[in-house]
Amino acid sequence: MLQINPNLSDLVTDAAAGLADRLQSKATITAAAPGRVNLIGEHIDYCDGFVMPFAIDRYIVIAGCANGTSQARITSALSEEIVTLDLTQPQETSEPKWANYLRGVIRGFQDRGHHIPGFHAYILSSIPGGAGLSSSAALECATATFLEGLLDTVLDTKEKALLCQKAEHDFAHVPCGIMDQFASAFGKPNRLVLIDCKTGEPELVPFENPDLTVLISNTMVNHELSDGGYAARRKHTEDGLAILGKASWRDVSAADVHANWEKLGEPVNRRSRHVVGEISRTIAAAAALARNDFETLGPLMAASHDSLRDDFEVSCKELDIMVEIARKIGRNGGVIGTRMTGGGFGGSTVTLCESRKASEIAAALGVEYEKATGIKPQIFASRPSQGAHLVG
Ligand code: GLA
Repeated sequence: MLQINPNLSDLVTDAAAGLADRLQSKATITAAAPGRVNLIGEHIDYCDGFVMPFAIDRYIVIAGCANGTSQARITSALSEEIVTLDLTQPQETSEPKWANYLRGVIRGFQDRGHHIPGFHAYILSSIPGGAGLSSSAALECATATFLEGLLDTVLDTKEKALLCQKAEHDFAHVPCGIMDQFASAFGKPNRLVLIDCKTGEPELVPFENPDLTVLISNTMVNHELSDGGYAARRKHTEDGLAILGKASWRDVSAADVHANWEKLGEPVNRRSRHVVGEISRTIAAAAALARNDFETLGPLMAASHDSLRDDFEVSCKELDIMVEIARKIGRNGGVIGTRMTGGGFGGSTVTLCESRKASEIAAALGVEYEKATGIKPQIFASRPSQGAHLVG
């Protein structure tokens, strides 16, 4: 049941072949950027919270070359179409939508005064789309890295991640926080990217215990963050903070939320309880992980899921089913903790488990989930991997 992760070097070879086949070009620049999974700290990156994602070993690869013109010609394994961009003009949003991620990042470079020469590019991905694993952030970070290669320049990593976040805001219209682009840009093998979203500083935390495995279970129910649910949640948290009269969620305690429950009103009071609770859970989880205290970590992940389901209301039936199955397998069956991961409204769960039981757990998740929903899930293990980089 455990899916094998496609090897990055195979992906690079296939992307070069795709470029040759579809655009009759030889790859001279190849960029790769990973998706991410978040262990804990959900929907609080836009609330000055802490988040604990890592870059997964699934990538978007862009293979390309300069073409000596002032146009970009871009295509992907997922599209028949070749998109042409006029690089003499500042990029704006347009059709097809998938190309907006590239347009947005190009615009970020243009706004910094870069003149982008014409190029050919072919995109290939091993990150399941719409699965809450940040394929869009990976596409943005891969594009930025590709442009660094094309322009023979290197942006500061934080600046690059923020440029990509702005592309998501302005060109995909999702008012996301910084977690996804930071994880994709800063990721390192065997490291979690613990981000203090108030200071905007990532800390690379060791995560290399071979006895631990992270399983990602894609419910195959697609989410669309631009539908408005995400923006609505973000607005609730902004309203909550304004009603509480505070400058930052870091200055708000659980007692403050409790004392102002009526004033905050429905549903802002429950949204606020999630934010405050999730910030303290994430701080506690980072400490528990550092001392290998799994008996503390598991219940924190459980409380995170329950809060996202009941107070923040971003889970869905299928995510809850997947979580319940893992909970039933339980600590004795090797499950340390499990919860939904990412923006929600579909997507994936993350399950931290004992490596020696990982295959068995994955098999049970697959069988039981299909029995309950009629949907075949996609289940794979992932280890923290290298963030966005030029290949070769
Ligand atoms: C999406 C956003 C992130 C973050 C998560 C929820 O992935 O892009 O910024 O808010 O949802 O934690």
